[in-house]
Amino acid sequence: MTPTGAVGAGRGTVQIWFCLNEALDEATSTLLAGHWLDEHEREIAGRFLFERDRRQYLVAHALVRRVLSLQTGIPEAEATIWRSSRGRPFLQSPPHGRPRGPEAELDFNLSHAHGCNVVAVARDRRVGIDVERLDRGGERGLDWIVESFAPEERAHLATIAPGSRRDRATLRLWTLKEAYAKARGLGLGLPFDSFAFELAEDRGVLGFRPPEGDTADRWLFTELEPRPQVLVSLAVEKGADGTAPPDRLLIHDGFPWGRAAPREAELPTGHRALPALAGAAR
Ligand SMILES: CC(C)(COP(=O)(O)OP(=O)(O)OC[C@H]1O[C@@H](n2cnc3c(N)ncnc32)[C@H](O)[C@@H]1OP(=O)(O)O)[C@@H](O)C(=O)NCCC(=O)NCCS
Repeated sequence: MTPTGAVGAGRGTVQIWFCLNEALDEATSTLLAGHWLDEHEREIAGRFLFERDRRQYLVAHALVRRVLSLQTGIPEAEATIWRSSRGRPFLQSPPHGRPRGPEAELDFNLSHAHGCNVVAVARDRRVGIDVERLDRGGERGLDWIVESFAPEERAHLATIAPGSRRDRATLRLWTLKEAYAKARGLGLGLPFDSFAFELAEDRGVLGFRPPEGDTADRWLFTELEPRPQVLVSLAVEKGADGTAPPDRLLIHDGFPWGRAAPREAELPTGHRALPALAGAAR
């Protein structure tokens, strides 16, 4: 097993860090944020109206900086994070290379919601990740989410009786869609009805219909449940021109202070390409 922060993880390894807010007490997260966050992050942290939201943000961003530091040897406060015009964060490589880790391009993505934080890291390929809680409650239910889905996804959900099974399938689709859109860097700017997933019974993706301009076999998707009722979806690029596909997934749990061994999980090898919708405007 590779220890936490191991640089031995090669180009084919995708890593995920899952961390609950309570893994860092309030005083510690405030202290770390004070030392590690950049001006942009501090400004956002200062804008939250509710302490609960500020805390979520501080833990999430302390986690990102800790993970990037473990992976590259760049001290947490010195990592330069830049953001695309759509807000997607990227790690800027220092001009003289990184102190440690493979020279391959590092990509990362963060998701945080309802006390859960998750960061994915990959090399030489894009990653996107999303976390949602099934037990998050809310008066609106999940029907409003379904309205944004593709026709074949809505048809599938309509075959499931309303209740916890349908809610689970809905959130599985939602997290997969977010993970893919975040890997692409488009976020909610990508219409969620322009691409579709076919779900396996319990977990996993059987089929994918990509949006215009992308191909189904460019991506791998995996679903995890690091805690009961906590759904995480990961989208990872198979590899640009000639790069071997990812073949290893390591899952770390908790704030990565120490050298706790990660758990290894299986990555799927692929899924089928779902047919384009007849008569759909593409
Ligand atoms: C990315 C997005 C889908 C996040 O959705 P969410 O479910 O609310 O939040 P998550 O916790 O899963 O992800 C948030 C994290 O994703 C990352 N992120 C932000 N924009 C992103 C993008 N375009 N692509 C990938 N990741 C993005 C950030 O790390 C962000 O964390 P932060 O806000 O604390 O810095 C949503 O914010 C979005 O669509 N943003 C793009 C908006 C846009 O197009 N703006 C253009 C200018 S008008």
